[in-house]
Amino acid sequence: MAIAFEVNGKAVTVQAAEDTPLLWVLRDEVGLTGTKFGCGIAQCGACTVHLDGQPVRSCSLPVSAAAGLKVTTIEGLGGSHPAQQAWAKLDVPQCGYCQSGQIMSAAALLAEKKAPTDEEIDAAMSGNICRCGTYQRIRAAIKEAAGIGAALPTAAAPTS
Ligand code: FES
Ligand code: FES
Repeated sequence: MAIAFEVNGKAVTVQAAEDTPLLWVLRDEVGLTGTKFGCGIAQCGACTVHLDGQPVRSCSLPVSAAAGLKVTTIEGLGGSHPAQQAWAKLDVPQCGYCQSGQIMSAAALLAEKKAPTDEEIDAAMSGNICRCGTYQRIRAAIKEAAGIGAALPTAAAPTS
């Protein structure tokens, strides 16, 4: 069936079975591969996108649920979102695989809370798994993006 929605400000219409996961449509039909497949069962957050501004797990959301709505992917943040700038400044990623999902969850949090507390950050990010364990830098980057954080301490320079 034809399903129409908006992706990153552009109208798209795709032909897909209505229960096709949105992630598949974004990657294979729309050609946006920044959103990643991790677990496929809504448990890791790698596939996080925004649906009308709310973070959703696109691996488990049927594309029909996006009909008529606005989807934003990591590509839609444009590279200059405060979270993306903070991620780059603090060198957050390790392997990077989880990071587009992490940034999308962080962006949704920052849109709702201008100065999130540690508890609010933990609650918003708890569904985003990072196998490389970058959680400390993620929290610091969210605070950096919000303008409320001290940057992580940097390693001491060699003395000789
Ligand atoms: S791939 Fe969607 S939550 Fe893991
Ligand atoms: S940076 Fe490797 S899984 Fe998060």
